[in-house]
Amino acid sequence: MNPILLDCDTGVDDAAAIAYALGLEADLVACTTVAGNIHIDLTTGNTLKVLSLLGAEDVPVFRGASRPLVQPFQDASHVHGGNGLGGAEIGEALAAESDLTAPEAIIAYAEEFDGELTLVATGPLTNIAIALSLRPGIAQQVRKLVLMGGSFFNPGNVTPYAEFNIWADPDAATQVFAADWNEILAIGLDVTHQVAITKKMWELIPDDAEGAVGMMKAISERTFVTRVRSGFFLHDPLAMAVALDESLVTLTPYAVDVVVDGEERGRTVVSDGGNVLVATAVDATGFLQRFCAALGIPYIDDVDGISAAE
Ligand code: BDR
Ligand code: CA
Repeated sequence: MNPILLDCDTGVDDAAAIAYALGLEADLVACTTVAGNIHIDLTTGNTLKVLSLLGAEDVPVFRGASRPLVQPFQDASHVHGGNGLGGAEIGEALAAESDLTAPEAIIAYAEEFDGELTLVATGPLTNIAIALSLRPGIAQQVRKLVLMGGSFFNPGNVTPYAEFNIWADPDAATQVFAADWNEILAIGLDVTHQVAITKKMWELIPDDAEGAVGMMKAISERTFVTRVRSGFFLHDPLAMAVALDESLVTLTPYAVDVVVDGEERGRTVVSDGGNVLVATAVDATGFLQRFCAALGIPYIDDVDGISAAE
């Protein structure tokens, strides 16, 4: 048994993370949503739509925080498109959101799967911080937290210093990194910038593809055509993959401090002696092969395409 609760801000690569988990028939017990890439109405609606498209509308979705703890809300619609899914229309949700708020749901599932639940966080850490504030004990009650966030040894993607999820709610991130987790893994840009669907791979997906692979073709079109990028980064799918198999990355323990305001807001500063397991290297080829196999994307070895991704 490996029950997983995904806290997400769906978001094109959050959608890909859901598809990866379902493609591997992982035990996704619930999704909770948070404002981040886009407004909470859309992150919640998109999560419901993605689950429905993939035949998993029975996975409950709980709406969470509509804004960061302290900072004003600022989306990333320039990356994810106005609807958060790159402008793709992927069909209607076949189920409604559930009644509890996201932090309440996180606490309830942590209790239900006492010691067994893996939390995967692929958005700003607002819901997790609120859950910790309400019940600090969940840090010991869940098996582990795997989060996509931070850039520990390389430049950021929002500013030269900061990665989006940490920048969006640095106060929540501070609280989450400081909590007494059984195990906490941080999957940052240092490794996620090594894993991408390249333009060549995207072109090999047939235009009439359906299901998970059709969704990937549609939600990444904006990245390749409108934004003229050479790669669609698989930030959130890599965090999900590590939650299922830690051997994909090299993990090094650090203490992590977060800069909460000023020019370096969202910067993740490491020092020795902590218990945050930071991903410092990745088996990029191994992960990409698994990702493509799980979703039905034609895999090609496109090292040049990946290194050119920006
Ligand atoms: C992270 O920020 C979001 O835009 C993505 O969904 C991912 O979780 C990458 O910095
Ligand atoms: Ca995300």
